[in-house]
Amino acid sequence: MPTPVLIAAELRELLPENPLPSADVTWISAEEPTPSGPYEAVVPLLSRRIGLQELALLPKLRLVANCAVGVDNVDLAACAARGVGVTNTPDVLTDATADLTMALLLAVTRRMKEGEALLREGAWTGWDPRQLLGTGLRGLTLGLVGAGRIGQAVGRRARAFGMGLRYTARQPRAAFEADTGAVRVSLDDLLAGSDVVSLHVPSTGETRGLIGRAALARMKPGAFLINTARGDVVDEQALIDALESGHLGGVGLDVFAREPQVPPPLVRHPRAVVLPHLGSATVQTRRAMAGLAVKNVAALLEGKRVLTPVGGETAGDGR
Ligand code: DGY
Repeated sequence: MPTPVLIAAELRELLPENPLPSADVTWISAEEPTPSGPYEAVVPLLSRRIGLQELALLPKLRLVANCAVGVDNVDLAACAARGVGVTNTPDVLTDATADLTMALLLAVTRRMKEGEALLREGAWTGWDPRQLLGTGLRGLTLGLVGAGRIGQAVGRRARAFGMGLRYTARQPRAAFEADTGAVRVSLDDLLAGSDVVSLHVPSTGETRGLIGRAALARMKPGAFLINTARGDVVDEQALIDALESGHLGGVGLDVFAREPQVPPPLVRHPRAVVLPHLGSATVQTRRAMAGLAVKNVAALLEGKRVLTPVGGETAGDGR
């Protein structure tokens, strides 16, 4: 008897045909509620909550193979209590997300949104040595809040741009420090001493609202904030206020607290570059994420160890 499995329908075109030959796959799209049934594994997108309610609908569930590195959509404690395993998709999206972080960092510091608006409005009158002067990166300090895989990958890229590095993490990252000269500091020191702050922590009870009014006030006047991690790590209203008061020089955001809602003041602000959660959005990466999530299910069905179990990562060090 083929094993019943649920897979997000949006992944279908990223996967080979018949990705789990020994399973009876039901494809569910993001708008559909989680169905009730004897499904033994589910491959959800991060927009699908897997909590107590969903677990009650899925009495035979053995694995949540999340198609994302973040697992904030999954109630890990409830899964553990029910003996349901959870896997995610680390590593395969590190480069794409770090690349997009650098794209935002450059877009914000070089005022690309304002430049593009000038052309779109037909208001450009020609080259002017005083026009839209941005901030060069060489010699600036980048503060990485969280130095897991993605944070470190961003740090290594930023070194190539001549930036100095500070980072927060529960444990020192010896190889990263040796390779890049990064210095581990407290969050307060990082905020006060960085020209650009980039967030790389997962959304957990500990990190939600971490960058609130007080944290933003500690940042240097004119500093930049980049967030490609999770929107709810930042207090969005406090961020808007810090931007509108001119305290922050600019923000680059790929993630928002209540996606797909993006606060209109951020969309409008000339110094806010906002993107629709594109961190891992390359063809190669999305295929790799879908493939890895399904490989975890295949391993379960073959009685093997899953490839990328969640666990062992800690807040501040994850991703
Ligand atoms: C993740 O994987 O958690 C990202 O936010 C989407 O790639």
